[in-house]
Amino acid sequence: MIQAIIFDLDGVLLSTDELHYAAWKSVADELGIPFDRQVNNRLRGVSRMASLEIILEHGGVVLSPEEKEAVATRKNDRYRSSLMTLTPDVVTPEVRNTLAALKQRGLKMAIGSSSKNTKLILERTDLKRYFDAVSDGTNITRSKPDPEVFLKGAAFLGLSPSVCAVVEDAVAGIDAANAGGFLSIGIGDAAGYARADKKIASLSELLTIL
Ligand code: BG6
Ligand code: MG
Repeated sequence: MIQAIIFDLDGVLLSTDELHYAAWKSVADELGIPFDRQVNNRLRGVSRMASLEIILEHGGVVLSPEEKEAVATRKNDRYRSSLMTLTPDVVTPEVRNTLAALKQRGLKMAIGSSSKNTKLILERTDLKRYFDAVSDGTNITRSKPDPEVFLKGAAFLGLSPSVCAVVEDAVAGIDAANAGGFLSIGIGDAAGYARADKKIASLSELLTIL
């Protein structure tokens, strides 16, 4: 019996893909690394530093730890400025109505996101009020596919993973949910992933499958 749902943020409740893409593209251009949407897709659900490692490896560029820090900071500064353009309107009525209906049913709800910008995004989009707990990139040391972010989310809710579902759009996120003993629900990219326990085409389907 599912008592709580832990939602990934980017790609599940809203799309920040284009903003990440533009910020990574600008730093990749400066480094002379070819960067396209295919590479960007590989960054889904992956931490900022791990994303940079993927981009550097793709471009065959080697940087010192200090240089990596500087590039990651530059990317994040640009990304954060673009987050300032977010408004509550970027969250679709379907997403908002689904969250409200699940809450009404008495389900506990949490965020489980790798992003260290989660709280800013929740504030800008007025999503915070739906959630009982937020587990994000600021409270973990290991990135998805490690289950840490979801295990912390369940712990913040005071529940065991066996009674929590995780909704994810990233393959790494489904692997993390499975590794942590959660019911994994794939949406978007992850709806085509064989290891997802359940697959949904849109968020409102949660109301029928749970
Ligand atoms: C995830 C995104 O939510 O957060 C990844 O899917 C991103 O693409 C990761 O790299 C880390 O985000 P941030 O905001 O901490 O740089
Ligand atoms: Mg995601």
